Amino acid sequence: MDNLQRQYLEAMGIQMWESRDGSAPTSPPEVVAEPAISEPVVRVAPVQAGKTEPLHLDTSSETQPKSAPGQAPELVPEQRLAQEDDVALLDWNALQSRVSTCALCDELVANRSQTVFGVGDPAADWMVIGEAPGTEEDQQGEPFVGPAGQLLNNMLLAMGLKREQTFLANILKCRLPDKRDPKQQEAANCRTFLERQIALVKPKIILLLGKVAAQNILSSDQTIGHMRGEVYYYGDEKIPIIVTYHPAYLLRAPKEKRKAWDDLKLAMSVYSRQAGA
Ligand code: URA
Repeated sequence: MDNLQRQYLEAMGIQMWESRDGSAPTSPPEVVAEPAISEPVVRVAPVQAGKTEPLHLDTSSETQPKSAPGQAPELVPEQRLAQEDDVALLDWNALQSRVSTCALCDELVANRSQTVFGVGDPAADWMVIGEAPGTEEDQQGEPFVGPAGQLLNNMLLAMGLKREQTFLANILKCRLPDKRDPKQQEAANCRTFLERQIALVKPKIILLLGKVAAQNILSSDQTIGHMRGEVYYYGDEKIPIIVTYHPAYLLRAPKEKRKAWDDLKLAMSVYSRQAGA
């Protein structure tokens, strides 16, 4: 492990202990010892991502069961299909422009200062997907700029990635009122945009942060605890997907950082194989 990586792991909240005689650093119990990439047990769970509706959405905690479905007015199927067909043809600039003027969800439109499209390298190997912009993100127009974003930056740096080398996006492009969960229809309305972003970025790997992102993309109602530790695949291109805890949750439950680092090591390992394939 080099010094820089050690610093970022420490910044992520994973401390390394130096022995008094100056021998190799070890980790205290409950923290990750080795950032070296070990061979993962890859359990493949193919998903038809991009084709199915999300099952439910709930962000009350990373481990709680699901909430009731949302109540936003539904697009009738013809409207939804027209929107999908149309968005699937947009280039990057046109997509950005379309997102910025989206008015599909009345409550979110009324609540937002601006949409938050995403940030980073539009040709990134790594795509990182969170839930929805918070207050600071809504004001700045950029995802993950608050405290959770700071932790995410350190998580990425611990993997040897600068934030700007990745593309960061969210399931929703609009801030949610009162920190409530996204409604099912809101996520469905925004999904076309995210699918187009993925199609244009063509990432080599997708990292899903938290339950909302994981449940939506994987069309699952499982908890993060059940979903993490496996490799899933997105769409016909079979882009590998790794699920981990949301950094906002890790700020509330720092003990889970150990597992999050395991997830990131799995992601690095899968990415190395993918990039070398
Ligand atoms: N949480 C998210 O899921 N996304 C953001 O952009 C900020 C906080």
